[in-house]
Amino acid sequence: MTIDRNRRAAVGAIAGAAGLSALPLPALAQGRKLKIGLMLPYTGTFAQLGEAITNGFKLYVAESGGKLGGDDVEYVTVDDESAPPKAVENMNRLVRRDNVDVVVGTVHSGVALAMANVARQTNTTLIIPNAGADDITGSLCAPNIFRTSFSNWQPGYGTGKMMADRKIKSAVTLTWKYAAGEESVNGFKEAFTAGGGKIVKEMFLPFPNVEFQPFLTEIAALKPEAVFVFFAGAGAAKFVKDYYAAGLKSIPLYGSGFLTDGIGEAIQDVAQGLTTVLHYGDGINNPKNNAFRTAYALKYKMQPDVYAVQGYDAAQLLAAGLRAVKGDFSKKAEMYKAMEIAKIDSPRGPFTLSKAHNPVQDMYIRQLKGRDNVVVGIAVKALADPAKGCKAA
Ligand code: PHB
Repeated sequence: MTIDRNRRAAVGAIAGAAGLSALPLPALAQGRKLKIGLMLPYTGTFAQLGEAITNGFKLYVAESGGKLGGDDVEYVTVDDESAPPKAVENMNRLVRRDNVDVVVGTVHSGVALAMANVARQTNTTLIIPNAGADDITGSLCAPNIFRTSFSNWQPGYGTGKMMADRKIKSAVTLTWKYAAGEESVNGFKEAFTAGGGKIVKEMFLPFPNVEFQPFLTEIAALKPEAVFVFFAGAGAAKFVKDYYAAGLKSIPLYGSGFLTDGIGEAIQDVAQGLTTVLHYGDGINNPKNNAFRTAYALKYKMQPDVYAVQGYDAAQLLAAGLRAVKGDFSKKAEMYKAMEIAKIDSPRGPFTLSKAHNPVQDMYIRQLKGRDNVVVGIAVKALADPAKGCKAA
């Protein structure tokens, strides 16, 4: 409870005792503040992703007159540095010291897993605007934990399906060794091998290392038909440049769309035509996406990406819950119910949540044209994460 809420409850009690409970309390209702903890990376390889999520979230709040569910919004921001060892302390600071009403975060799966554990222990409302750790909407699923992005399995599976559909028979995989990399590869393998593909070799390097050269040398020697990778942010930009600089153009590179999202500008000179699979694409032509892209470009003087969309949708989901309880954050069960059944009018196209609170969504095939990830097809329609081990939600 925030100080505002305590004060509100106390004043309400006094009014009730004096027989005034039927009187409206407009000044108090208007003064209500919703305290939102933004726990995101603002430094390191995912810094740009954290910024885009923050921008997207704040854009929706600004479009709603600076309020959510009628409450004024106040932010407490923490740079989580994509550092799992610091995650519990950072989350505890927001929840126990700053008394935030809700936490929105984060990008890195390892950090998000720690956040989910604290959220479960403290019954904190947690909305994840990126991190794909499968367990969050699997064995760790909970009534108070929601995700507006994806599970790592989803884009991995979509990419494997597309590559198998294209009759590619052999692939090497390469990624960072942590939950997001491993689970993306697992999703990829599931669909690729079911479609007749063979994995030649799985290769890993520690997060967030960018010494790719030995791996590129090995790929050249192995000569697979194609390569599948999961990289994101600044590390992805370096990987794509290194891949083509190593003369590997004859071995087609594929990846879940994080490989190219938000970094079109940096890789456009070397990576035209690079094909990826993701739940968003720059050119999606629906009224919501067009309005979103225009508003975002106007406010931030740059183009949005998938991360901005996920941040925007985190705010939309929270707003849907708060609307149902008229901004009364104490009615959590009712609020969660409304979030569970919300149809989010996302720039990616409308989506609903699975029982485990993860988006059920189309996996688009995108191709880099200029600096944009242009949608050229659909790998899988309405893909739901299998939510392995989810019992509670
Ligand atoms: C993750 O760690 O879950 C992660 C990070 C960056 C992405 C996607 C997933 O772009």
